[in-house]
Amino acid sequence: MSGSAITDDAHAAWPLEDLEGPIAEPRPGGDSAYVLDRSDSETRRLIMQAELFDKFIRRLLEDAGLTSGMRVLDVGSGAGDVAFAAADIVGPTGAVVGVDVDPSVLAGARARAEKAGRGNVAFLESDCRSSAVDGQFDAVVGRLVLMYVGDVTETLKSLVARVRPGGVVAFAEADFTPVLGYVHAGASELHRTCWDWGTEAFRRAGAHTAMAPILCRAFIESGLGEPHMVLHAPLGCHSDWTGYEWLAESMRSLLPVLENFDIATDEVVNVATLAARLRAEVVRNRFPLMLVPLVGAWARKATQEAGITAVSSAHD
Ligand SMILES: C[S@@+](CC[C@H](N)C(=O)[O-])C[C@H]1O[C@@H](n2cnc3c(N)ncnc32)[C@H](O)[C@@H]1O
Repeated sequence: MSGSAITDDAHAAWPLEDLEGPIAEPRPGGDSAYVLDRSDSETRRLIMQAELFDKFIRRLLEDAGLTSGMRVLDVGSGAGDVAFAAADIVGPTGAVVGVDVDPSVLAGARARAEKAGRGNVAFLESDCRSSAVDGQFDAVVGRLVLMYVGDVTETLKSLVARVRPGGVVAFAEADFTPVLGYVHAGASELHRTCWDWGTEAFRRAGAHTAMAPILCRAFIESGLGEPHMVLHAPLGCHSDWTGYEWLAESMRSLLPVLENFDIATDEVVNVATLAARLRAEVVRNRFPLMLVPLVGAWARKATQEAGITAVSSAHD
């Protein structure tokens, strides 16, 4: 792959039917193999990602109804950034418990919490569907975690059971559909190819890659009612933007899967120069780079009074 100028076929109408079938279908069962790397460089990538999506996640949590004093469960905490955003909102009178199946990423999250003097956040190694943490929560939140579980509705039901009546449920998950449509409408070859590789890697590993309809259905089927939803996808064309590094580091993290499924080789991806090549293409072509689109969904659990199925959020 050359990674140079836009090719003619990049301007061709994109076959939307390619989005149907395996990409949009929920998997019948079984979790995805965790498609991303588990290493220090992945922790750094998660932190870079968190900075790029920080304003979005804070806004989502506030719109969903997180407020001072709440007790929050953050599932699939990773390096801890969603837990930290929630901890800032709930303040010193509130508390956040973050759970993750990966002990090494949690060690990093704990170190970051300690370094920042955060007394209202704790991290526990646990599958999000187990009830390792006692008690009920005022809110359950998570980002980029439900896309890895086999049965999103069953997982959400088990999490809703941990929320008090009237409490908040809010998730942000990836939906690759908008970025695929975008890059196939004229992005440079390298930009487009990275998203084709990335989507295929997640799909082949069994992760859900079109989470908007899956979240909508899972909220309704979990008894939460129709969720409020929003879509957010950072775009950048500045030459000094960190988005190029984020996409290149994401490819580094995906490399074992790309190679395992014969999607692309290390040599072709050439991670060492990828960010610079993406930056050069965007600056030359002025077709902004899009990062992973996140779908936010939130709702409140029904109160116990008969007939009330959901409580309106602050943004009704
Ligand atoms: C892409 S990272 C996202 C981390 C963090 N939520 C963020 O947005 O920065 C996904 C995390 O979910 C964790 N995870 C995946 N499946 C899980 C499960 N069933 N229960 C708990 N954690 C899970 C992974 O170990 C990983 O750390």
